[in-house]
Amino acid sequence: MTSKHEYDVLVIGSGAAGLTLALHLASELRVAVLSKGRLSEGSTYWAQGGVAGVLDDSDTVDAHVQDTLDAGGGLCHEEAVRQIVGNSREAIGWLVDQGVPFTREKREDGSETDDFHLTREGGHSHRRIIHAADATGAAIFNTLLLRAQEHTNIELLEDRVAVDLITSQKLGRAGKRCFGAYIFNRASGRVETFGARFTVLATGGASKVYLYTSNPDSASGDGIAMAWRAGCRVANMEFNQFHPTCLYHPKAKSFLITEALRGEGALLKLPDGSRFMPRFDKRAELAPRDIVARAIDHEMKRLGLDCVYLDISHKPAQFIRDHFPTVYERCLTFGIDITREPIPVVPAAHYTCGGVVVDSAGQTDQANLYAIGETSFTGLHGANRMASNSLLECIVYGRSAAHDILEKLHTSSMPADLPPWDESQVTDSDEDVIISHNWDELRRFMWDYVGIVRTTKRLQRAKHRVDMLLAEIHEFYSNYRVTRDLLELRNLAVVADLIIRSAILRRESRGLHYTLDYPAMLDAAEDTILSPPNAGD
Ligand code: FAD
Ligand code: SIN
Repeated sequence: MTSKHEYDVLVIGSGAAGLTLALHLASELRVAVLSKGRLSEGSTYWAQGGVAGVLDDSDTVDAHVQDTLDAGGGLCHEEAVRQIVGNSREAIGWLVDQGVPFTREKREDGSETDDFHLTREGGHSHRRIIHAADATGAAIFNTLLLRAQEHTNIELLEDRVAVDLITSQKLGRAGKRCFGAYIFNRASGRVETFGARFTVLATGGASKVYLYTSNPDSASGDGIAMAWRAGCRVANMEFNQFHPTCLYHPKAKSFLITEALRGEGALLKLPDGSRFMPRFDKRAELAPRDIVARAIDHEMKRLGLDCVYLDISHKPAQFIRDHFPTVYERCLTFGIDITREPIPVVPAAHYTCGGVVVDSAGQTDQANLYAIGETSFTGLHGANRMASNSLLECIVYGRSAAHDILEKLHTSSMPADLPPWDESQVTDSDEDVIISHNWDELRRFMWDYVGIVRTTKRLQRAKHRVDMLLAEIHEFYSNYRVTRDLLELRNLAVVADLIIRSAILRRESRGLHYTLDYPAMLDAAEDTILSPPNAGD
């Protein structure tokens, strides 16, 4: 098999963002969509709650915008919020046209109406979340994948791990352009050269940087780290969202209990059965996520608890099974019948609000390089993402970036003379234990020192440790052949460093960033924008 590949558009990531973009381009361009494991590997597949949008006649774009701004703690960019929310009806309409089987309202006799059922989640003042029961992400992913498989112009490639972007700077050429990427083919063990007129980072988030997370293993911030190494700015990395309710069970890895349970009336309780959220916020269980996660953290620390409880058992059993079949079945496998008893829950890292700085079409600081979906920083989420706004962002920006690419087509030629990957200086590693040890160490100190409640001292401790890890990983990377684990560790360390540096720079508490040393919020809301040393002009 050749180690050189050429496409009009190279899309790194096969989640909602990458597939949407590919589908909008495929009638005109040859597109490769890569996944570092199976195509379903990203967070999209696991999304439960749904997609937020202005769909009900009693709801308005202004109300959805205002709720997003309120949740975002003064840091949302209103023009980005308006762009995304303003396009929500059209974006969801496109998903419906692709065939996504969203849940319909039912009549009393159980038959379906033509109207979609809309649920609620924290921070939303209206019912505006369209969903496919509690497995919305799988419904969206499966549908978009089917559509992509029907296109002869889309090539879907599994087990291809992007290593680094190929830029003018790397090649010693003038300008600031991206020409494609080096891709590690896990089947052959070789790093291949993918040249492209346009490259798109749709690699998802970075929550795997924390020990406990709702995210799948793919969420190692690869796109953010690659863009940073390629000279792109990143913003607001200190705002990592912790979802308040992940299942607490020794055998349950990363299982989320959707916020839609609270939207439909579930209550958070202490072991004695008493509620605590009304003490923290008048919206109680439906306050934005930063407030609920912090309240749970506070109660767990105050009372020395391992978890708190989420209780929906007061609702009719059939209602629970109809609306939350995935959560019901999954909890049952651990012996928890949610129609009869409360669910033990803890917060876990869930969403990367910061990311690669992009404009309103997903264009990064490098010409011909785009970032979309959770990898990007559009300004939508501010200091705290409102529930179910992220899938919406993936769909809206997938389309905007595709349109921008089509407009710029005539200005962009296929890159020529890209050098092959050079592995003449490396050998196979005989010490993989270093990788697994560093993975564990990194994720544990991020959890302990850079978690829901921070202090300057803890952040400085984390910075000291990440500096040592970065040096060790760099040495390892320079001497040994790449593997998926090594590449992910290298990216996680970069992302951890960006999070810690951003957190140290923010001398206030705002949204998801809460520090005991600066508990107040400053009057002026400012983004934390980091520029890499090789950013150029
Ligand atoms: P992803 O879907 O994460 O896809 C990333 C892709 O990039 C994958 O294909 C991966 O293999 C690939 N990739 C990564 N690195 C590389 C590399 N180096 N080389 C090659 N490929 C690479 N949001 C909502 O709006 N509503 C919800 O109800 C909701 N529920 C959620 C529930 C869970 C459990 C989780 C984890 C998240 C949820 N979210 C929800 C958030 C939302 O699912 C994600 O933000 C969104 O799906 C991200 O989509 P994406 O296309 O940006 O990336
Ligand atoms: C959930 O279903 O609780 C997750 C929704 C989201 O993260 O947007």
